[in-house]
Amino acid sequence: MESLKEKILTEGKVLSDSVIKVDAFLNHQVDPVFMQSLGAEFGSRFTDYGITKIMTLESSGISPAVMTGLSLGVPVVFARKRKSLTLNEHLYSTEVYSYTKQEANDISVSKDYIDRDDVVLIIDDILANGEAALGMVDIVEQAGAVLEGIGIVIEKGFQEGGERLRERGIRVESLATIESLTNGHVNFKQGRLI
Ligand code: G4P
Ligand code: NA
Ligand code: NA
Repeated sequence: MESLKEKILTEGKVLSDSVIKVDAFLNHQVDPVFMQSLGAEFGSRFTDYGITKIMTLESSGISPAVMTGLSLGVPVVFARKRKSLTLNEHLYSTEVYSYTKQEANDISVSKDYIDRDDVVLIIDDILANGEAALGMVDIVEQAGAVLEGIGIVIEKGFQEGGERLRERGIRVESLATIESLTNGHVNFKQGRLI
């Protein structure tokens, strides 16, 4: 998605060879009009698949997920993160390990908001090693729902998450895929180097 690549180039900041800061429009401040255009793009890629629910993970997944839900006219449920979870049989929960933060969190969704009749589209802001996405996939499976696919705003193509999901046969649609961040430059997949 060209407008997203432009946004990354103009408002993103390369912090290292592996991390890009996108607080200006995704992780701290949100541009709602722009975010709505991302939601419309996800909506167009997943229209006519009978999606009944969007699932994401708090916090930064929520804005693209809500805009996708707006586009498809379906509810959005966000998994919650907790340090440690008291046993609660009314929740689906799973452990997610963050390599970036070097800590494990449980993520959970109430059984009230997803069930076996749902056809789920997972949306998230950034795909790195795929731990968060795989955790959400696990919750969809626990619920007995159908997973239709995963929409990602920014995929870090040099980390393994995309491969881990696709090798499981999951449809992953990323609006921008970064191949490398070497020397402070954002190199997108499909050949644009600035
Ligand atoms: P993974 O789920 O794909 O395995 O990713 P990882 O554990 O490495 O990511 C942990 C957190 O760091 C996630 O946010 C993820 O979005 C974020 N992250 C990973 N790489 C980058 C990057 O290059 N740039 C930015 N801006 N974020 C990155 P989170 O902890 O879920 O936080 P929140 O933003 O949703 O609150
Ligand atoms: Na994030
Ligand atoms: Na996220």
